[in-house]
Amino acid sequence: MSIFVSYETKSSKNIMSYTHQTLPKIFKEAKDFMPLYGTDYVEFYVSNAKQAAYFYKAALGFQSYAYAGLETGLKEYESYVVAQGKIKLMFTSPLKSNTYVGKHIDKHGDGVKVVALWVDNAIDAYHTAIEKGARSYMKPIVTNDDDGTIISSGIHTYGETVHVFIERTNYSGHFMPGFIKWQTPDFNPPSVGLKYIDHMVGNVALGEMNKWVNFYEEVMGFTNILTFDDKDISTEYTALMSKVVCNGNGRIKFPINEPAKGIKRSQVDEYLDFYEGEGVQHLAVATDDIVMTVREMRNRGIEFLPIPDSYYETVLDRVGKIDEDIKPLKELGILIDRDDEGYLLQIFTKPIEPRPTLFFEIIQRKGAQSFGKGNFKALFQAIEREQTIRGTL
Ligand code: FE2
Repeated sequence: MSIFVSYETKSSKNIMSYTHQTLPKIFKEAKDFMPLYGTDYVEFYVSNAKQAAYFYKAALGFQSYAYAGLETGLKEYESYVVAQGKIKLMFTSPLKSNTYVGKHIDKHGDGVKVVALWVDNAIDAYHTAIEKGARSYMKPIVTNDDDGTIISSGIHTYGETVHVFIERTNYSGHFMPGFIKWQTPDFNPPSVGLKYIDHMVGNVALGEMNKWVNFYEEVMGFTNILTFDDKDISTEYTALMSKVVCNGNGRIKFPINEPAKGIKRSQVDEYLDFYEGEGVQHLAVATDDIVMTVREMRNRGIEFLPIPDSYYETVLDRVGKIDEDIKPLKELGILIDRDDEGYLLQIFTKPIEPRPTLFFEIIQRKGAQSFGKGNFKALFQAIEREQTIRGTL
């Protein structure tokens, strides 16, 4: 496999300009100035990528997908990529001390570094974002191997989190130049039915939510589709505020949370303390069969936030008739909410890192396009119980 890397040149910009003619109609109608197809991959910086990949395979049903490291010529880092449905997660660890990745892990613990977005044109996306005020993370880079060309570029978002734009128009290979197929013929635990990333939530500091909502609107062409104030999201003790931004085709949704004043420290404050800054709080992943998915994940060792039985005494009065039997939902602690368009089922894992930072949400949408507002109180009370046990409330 040959890999060539070249920085952006005037000619590469010209070569790629034709891709605008291939834009799907939906983007033209949405009047997007930065067409984004969806999430390409999410990269975590972790202290042991090999074991993280094993955990995501064994406990969350991901499949071995791609690898880069010493065997492929890298000297400083090693990355494993796992896949399930349309979701690709990359885990990267340093191979020596004092690296960029290592310093990130020392400060934040294991967490999400890169939310890579699949774009039509990574050079245009980069220049558009920079012109509109984004801070550069990576100038456009062209990488090639025998299967074609990938162009990538990147900008900073909240905290030390970044967005990398990935253009795959002229690439037919497995993942990306520089990676080989990761095959593990003797260990391939089956999928748990996770399909795609439904939304990904960022926690930002007090007073910073509107700044980042503006960033997504003005720099990335997103729309603020929902707003929750501290009256929507509060318990007796804690509160937070949240706004949801969404891209033109509706596939990328980023709720942005900031803490609000309460009697005690909110989950966002706890996150900001332990992550030592702003960052990704949870990934919500979609399934078509939440009972099967959650049962399977529990059997494989994933712990979910416990929900009191009393929740199930009144939930059907609130949400009305649902297709599912309530018994397994209660047994597993799955929450239910309804909006004008239908209902949804959702559940939240406990943090999956040593620090109480990143967790996962499993969501099954049955028409509803919202985020479970009716469950906020029960959910935050459940989190407060966990905070109390941790001594961080
Ligand atoms: Fe969520």
